Amino acid sequence: MSKPRVIVTRHWPEEVETRLAEHFDVTLNPDDEPMSAAALRDAFTDYDAVFSTVTDRIDAEVLSAEPIRARLVGNFGVGFNNIDIDAAKVRGLVVTNTPDVLTDATADLAMTLLLAVARRGGEGERHVRAGAWSGWRPTHMMGTQVTGKTLGIIGLGRIGQATARRAHAGFGMRVLFFDPYPPAAEVLYSLGAEQRATVEEVLAEADFVSVHCPATPENRHLINAERLKAMKADAFLINSARGDIVNEAALCDALDAGQIAGAGLDVFEEEPRVSPRLLDRENVVLLPHLGSATRETRIAMGDKVLENARAFFAGDEPPNRVA
Ligand code: 8YV
Repeated sequence: MSKPRVIVTRHWPEEVETRLAEHFDVTLNPDDEPMSAAALRDAFTDYDAVFSTVTDRIDAEVLSAEPIRARLVGNFGVGFNNIDIDAAKVRGLVVTNTPDVLTDATADLAMTLLLAVARRGGEGERHVRAGAWSGWRPTHMMGTQVTGKTLGIIGLGRIGQATARRAHAGFGMRVLFFDPYPPAAEVLYSLGAEQRATVEEVLAEADFVSVHCPATPENRHLINAERLKAMKADAFLINSARGDIVNEAALCDALDAGQIAGAGLDVFEEEPRVSPRLLDRENVVLLPHLGSATRETRIAMGDKVLENARAFFAGDEPPNRVA
C-alpha cells in the first residue's frame, strides 16, 4: 500500500521531519516560507493530510477546495483557533492538536514574562547594552517583588495549572483563578489555588494577572478596557495564550493612562505585527510567540502530530482529536 501523501506547512526540527519521511510520502518546507491562502487551498486537493501551524489560516475559503483529497489536519500546536473547525467538520476532515507536551515550556515562558516585567529585565538589558549603566546605586531600576504576591489566573487548564504550580511552590505566591470549568478539588488543593466566581473578582485582588484560556469567539477581548480598569494600578498583565484574548488597543490605552503597571506579552492580536504603542514602552516585555519554543518541546510536538496521523491512517482514533 502506498504511503499517505502529507504536506508540512512550515519547517520542523529535522529529526521529526526524518521520522515523518519514514511513514509518509512527505512534502517539507525547508525554506520555511509561510504558505499563501491559495497554496493552502491547493494542499487540500493534493494531499491526504495537511500538517499546519498557527501561521496557517485554515478558514472556510481554504477548506472549500475542490475536489478535496485531504482527510486530516494535524495541527502542530495545542491551540487550533487558526482552523475553522465547523468548516472542517462540514468537509469531513478530522483535526488533531498537540496538548500536554508543551505545557511545561509554556508555563515556564509565562513565568519568564512575569519575572522579566516585574524585575525590569528587558529594560535593564537594554540599559546595559546601550552603554547607559553608570554603576550600582541603591535606587537604581527598582522593580516589584514577585515572591509572596498574588497571581490571578484566567483559565486554569493544563498550562494555567502548571503556571500556578510554579508560582505557588516556587515563589510562594497566593493563587486565585477564574475558570467556568474548574479542575477537581484535590487539584486545586495541590496547587493552593482559590476559585473566584468572576474574572472581576480575580482582577480586583491580583498583583499579576496571567491569561491561560483558549481563543474561542467568546474569549475574544475577554480582557477589555473595563477589565483593565478593574485591575490594580500596580498590577501586571501577562499573556502567553493568544493575542486576541486581550484588546491590544485597550491595553495600550491602559498603559498610557497608568491604569496598570506593565505587561508581559508573548502573543499579539495581529502577529507578527505588534502595536507601535507597545514597542516604545519600557514597562512591557515583548516576546515573539516563544511559549513552546524549546528544542525538546518542538520535537515532542512534531512527534505528537506524527502519532496522531499514524493512528488516523491505520484506521484508529487519533489520541488528540479535536474534530
Ligand atoms: C505553538 C502555541 O508554537 O501550541 C500552541 O497553541 O501557541 C504554540 O506553542 C504554535 O501555536 C504552533 O502552531
